Amino acid sequence: MLISILRVMIIRSFKPFVFQNSNCNRQIDYNVPNLGLYVHVPFCKELCPFCPYYKIKYDTSLASKYVDSLIKEIHLKSSGVGKKRVATSLYFGGGSPSLVINSLGRVLDAFREHFVIKGNIGTELHPDNVTPSLIAELKDIGFDIISLGIQSFNEKNLSTLGRKEKSDNRQNLEMIAKEGFRAIDVDLIFGIPGQTPQDLREDMIKAAEYGATQISTYPFIDFTYASNEQKPLNKRKKRVLLKSIVKTSEEMGFTRTSVWTFAKKDTPKYSSITRDNFLGYGPSATTLLKENFRINTFSVTEYINSLKDNRIPTALILDFSKRARYLYWLFWSCYNLDIDKNNFFQLFNKDLDSEFRWEIKVGKLLGIIENDGDGYKLTDKGAYLFHLVEQKYTNQYIDKTWRMARETPWPEKIVLY
Ligand SMILES: C[S@@+](CC[C@H](N)C(=O)[O-])C[C@H]1O[C@@H](n2cnc3c(N)ncnc32)[C@H](O)[C@@H]1O
Ligand code: SF4
Repeated sequence: MLISILRVMIIRSFKPFVFQNSNCNRQIDYNVPNLGLYVHVPFCKELCPFCPYYKIKYDTSLASKYVDSLIKEIHLKSSGVGKKRVATSLYFGGGSPSLVINSLGRVLDAFREHFVIKGNIGTELHPDNVTPSLIAELKDIGFDIISLGIQSFNEKNLSTLGRKEKSDNRQNLEMIAKEGFRAIDVDLIFGIPGQTPQDLREDMIKAAEYGATQISTYPFIDFTYASNEQKPLNKRKKRVLLKSIVKTSEEMGFTRTSVWTFAKKDTPKYSSITRDNFLGYGPSATTLLKENFRINTFSVTEYINSLKDNRIPTALILDFSKRARYLYWLFWSCYNLDIDKNNFFQLFNKDLDSEFRWEIKVGKLLGIIENDGDGYKLTDKGAYLFHLVEQKYTNQYIDKTWRMARETPWPEKIVLY
């Protein structure tokens, strides 16, 4: 309800967001600034009950066909790129990208035929996949950012989530830190039943002590299709935990870089989710450009079949109205706590203050935002409100879209109110 009201107020239209599968093969408009690249690797050794991302159990023969299809998708989508374009980042997420480590060099080579990758190259890692040879190889082929999905150092909390740690995360982090990556992120989850502020404090201190340069703390969200045995803590208890996270990060000398991320001073700020524009490759990957948002099919086999027939595996497209595209930008700017007028002008050639005159006025009056350099930043109150809004958005929009896309590889339509 809250999300629908905000959507209608900001977009100034009662029309819902409609994803359609017609005309999905139309030409991609690459003529956008700050273009990031994302690859989704949909395999895991074991499937965690809490995890909503699209993934299946690792299978060697399917993984090999997936890699060939991925390389084909890179070339197929790039046929309209023309001269090499600059990519501001390349990020591998999943699933567990390290399960296809032997092919990542080939994938990078395919990208380099079409893009000059100027920014960071990063990957997510599951702790059980970390070995000295894997880390050395990632460094060797050009990765400079690692995100380790520890979730919790506390055995009891981890087991409540339904995960058992088989490897030593202190050793994992120290090994990664020794290789000299530019940024090392540790993912933690908060709001696990039974978890206390002290547990989280210890998790954050351990992460920093063992070598993390950034800590991401995600509120535990119960997706309708997940198989969580125990439900997340309620809003009030999550609030207490978030407060303790912010306090601990201040004590450790970390800076809050988004609603849920904290980085050590003078280390690169990194995010897997916020880019001005991005091209996504692999099953379930999304693409955001000037005028639309695309979602690839959520089926590895359909992905492979589609590319066998030289068809781009886009299953759904949402065509943005101008206001809706601005809202998308505003939403992720709020997530980053930073609403930058110059960035808005660079992307849309429009003045932020004119486009969002009323929203800015109300935001200031309510103490949600305040002036900051070339724009606005979220206050503590604003950051807490956004923490609530982002969870509601996940429940109302992401859950529904991913659930329907998992059920049908080529859905006709998904309507979000
Ligand atoms: C794609 S996933 C994990 C990547 C990697 N396979 C791993 O396990 O570390 C990225 C992050 O999302 C977060 N996450 C996954 N499911 C979540 C949930 N239900 N609620 C909150 N955060 C979640 C976790 O912190 C996880 O590390
Ligand atoms: S949390 Fe990571 S390892 Fe677990 S299922 Fe999700 S992507 Fe796979």
